[in-house]
Amino acid sequence: MLTQILKIDENSLKLAENIILGGGVVAFPTETVYGLGASALDGAAVNSVFEIKGRPNDNPLIAHVHKDYDITRLVDGVPQYARLLAEAFLPGPLTMVFHSKGVVCKEVSCGLDTLAIRVPSHEGAQRLLKYLDIPIAAPSANISKHVSPVTSQHVYSDLNGKIPLILDGGKCSGGIESTVLDCTGEIPVVLRSGLVTQDMIAQVAGGCDVYVMKEGERVRSPGMKYKHYSPSCRTLMFDSGETGQAVKAYLQIENAGETPYILCENKVAKSIKVKNVLNLGETESEMAANLYQKLREGEQLADVIIAVAPEKRDGIMTGVMNRLTKACGKIIK
Ligand code: TXA
Ligand code: MG
Repeated sequence: MLTQILKIDENSLKLAENIILGGGVVAFPTETVYGLGASALDGAAVNSVFEIKGRPNDNPLIAHVHKDYDITRLVDGVPQYARLLAEAFLPGPLTMVFHSKGVVCKEVSCGLDTLAIRVPSHEGAQRLLKYLDIPIAAPSANISKHVSPVTSQHVYSDLNGKIPLILDGGKCSGGIESTVLDCTGEIPVVLRSGLVTQDMIAQVAGGCDVYVMKEGERVRSPGMKYKHYSPSCRTLMFDSGETGQAVKAYLQIENAGETPYILCENKVAKSIKVKNVLNLGETESEMAANLYQKLREGEQLADVIIAVAPEKRDGIMTGVMNRLTKACGKIIK
């Protein structure tokens, strides 16, 4: 199959519509990462998304809709706090889980009686969703377990030959996947951290918990139990104060004839005297926006990526650290 990459315009939107209404899939940009979209009303099309990605079929997908779509067509029992959150943060990188009405096909939620809904703010995503005016089921447009794509080229390198069309909307500005929030209870519960943080949610909703899996419990967000975001090369991670250890590991790897790269925040990058550095940047939002880009650059260049964990861990950095740990493994103590 030939994979086309096209800018978003009338022609490419028409083509995307033909493909999706014909049961096919199309990759498209959002403000977080690129998505791989199929009609959420077409079970066979949704199944092919799982197949193309090699995704386990008990990890449910998010239904994406445009900003004027009435979500009560799809879900029941939207609590007052969720309406306030929608007003404050949508369109944007916040996905909310509600009781499903069963309008969307069961393949989307993998048989769960809930449905995750997201209204992306990316202009290209809005145009596509508005053009189609149906819910689009879309996971990130990478091969399962690989680093999520933040450019059309990343999608191409994972899915070339497997999908007919990638809509190109430039580099994603957010850089990590949306916050997933369970809105089926009395107070909202964060299932996956992201750019809309627990504090931001609590301020609007009057409270917000974070889901921590207890032993023996059935997972609330099945995606959390899988390995994720992994670059194809070896990885190591040291704590923020352990730059010396990271440089030591770098020199050892170099002496063994292999190519190491250190992945770190800007202030660490400036303080170390090694040649191969993947600089995540200075601010929290820069680090989120650059993380996947730098992991993908790293896997091309390095035999081993040596990450130095950023110092800050709260707010947006909760999400960044969550992805970095899944990509590079636990901090070496
Ligand atoms: O930013 C994003 O959310 C991107 C873009 C493309 O929109 N999408 C994305 O999709 O990250 P995916 O499939 O890679 O991750 C979806 C997450 C998974 O952790 C999944 O378990 C969770 O959402 N999820 C989906 N439906 C759910 C449900 N009904 N209940 C609980 N968790 C759900
Ligand atoms: Mg994903």
